Amino acid sequence: MSSTYFDRNVDVLIDVQFGDCGKGKISKALIEQNQYHFVNKWNGGPNAGHAVWIGDKKFTAHHLTSGIYDPNAIILIGRGCVVDPGKFLDEVEHFSKHFNLDGRVFIHPATHVIGWFHKNEERDESKIGTTRTGVGPAMSAKYRRTGRRAEDVPELSEFVVDFDSWFGVRNRTMLMEGSQGWWLDIDHGFYPYVTSSHMHPAHAFTSFGIPLSGLRTIYGVGKVYETYVGAQKGMLGSIEHHEEHAIRELGQEYGETTGRPRDIGYLNMERLIEAVNRTGVDVLYLNKMDVLEELGMFNFWYDANELRYFDTVEEFQEEIRSILDNFSTVKEVIFSGNKHGI
Ligand code: IMP
Ligand code: MG
Repeated sequence: MSSTYFDRNVDVLIDVQFGDCGKGKISKALIEQNQYHFVNKWNGGPNAGHAVWIGDKKFTAHHLTSGIYDPNAIILIGRGCVVDPGKFLDEVEHFSKHFNLDGRVFIHPATHVIGWFHKNEERDESKIGTTRTGVGPAMSAKYRRTGRRAEDVPELSEFVVDFDSWFGVRNRTMLMEGSQGWWLDIDHGFYPYVTSSHMHPAHAFTSFGIPLSGLRTIYGVGKVYETYVGAQKGMLGSIEHHEEHAIRELGQEYGETTGRPRDIGYLNMERLIEAVNRTGVDVLYLNKMDVLEELGMFNFWYDANELRYFDTVEEFQEEIRSILDNFSTVKEVIFSGNKHGI
């Protein structure tokens, strides 16, 4: 018997704002760096949309992870997710035209599925502005214990595998790619303007039934400004209309899943610090730096009453680094954006 069941071989990637911070792209970069065996989805469902540019072609994954883009990576979908069988099969077929996915995508048998009636439930009215993909109703059914699981869906049988025994093998690394964002968490977000799953890195472990002792690094992704899409107005604080417009257009801030324009706000440092400290982020990527650089607009909310302005990108970055250094778990901040390679 080996005394070491699990190495520290699990990295977790989470969004520290309201989703849409570029996890797909950061995940792809981390996969290139670390060559994970598994790149897993542990929360959310077809409400998610992870966009990645390859050359001049844009790919958007909903059920799958950026493991798609590494021919050696295996993609596992864990119990904490919900799957829309039709959309999942379409997505696999779509990506298979460009990437070889044979024997690389698996769903845990206990993962719940979305039925047409779940989507119908959201079709006409959604007070909180959901993506109308049936995620909330399917999650409700799961907890009501009336749900249907992947193991009972014949169309999915090719993909449904009990992969629990694949873990605990030495040197098998994995990236747990999160969906949505911290402030959309069912327990920690602005209820009821939240989604129906959990965002805390601990849930990556419960989703797969593996010990927390496997944790290696927590990567966080945010943006140098904030966006939110949903029915709650004024969530992000005040911003000049022309600035909101400029950021939305330059940053292409429209929902990947629904096409809805995203609300825009300045970076909120208080909220950022709370999110990274509650989740324990080690390395933080702040995306879309190129957008603010092009606009020459550098400011953030220090707290709800104080908007700080900076003349240069260097001063802006230095102040963010120094605040995070003094008040947070973050050990490294990486400003990213298209111009910055990642
Ligand atoms: P639901 O997840 O479709 O139930 O939507 C609940 C809330 O979460 C709405 O405000 C959605 O816009 C938001 N939401 C869900 N998934 C995402 C995502 O991947 N990115 C950004 N917002 C999301
Ligand atoms: Mg998205």
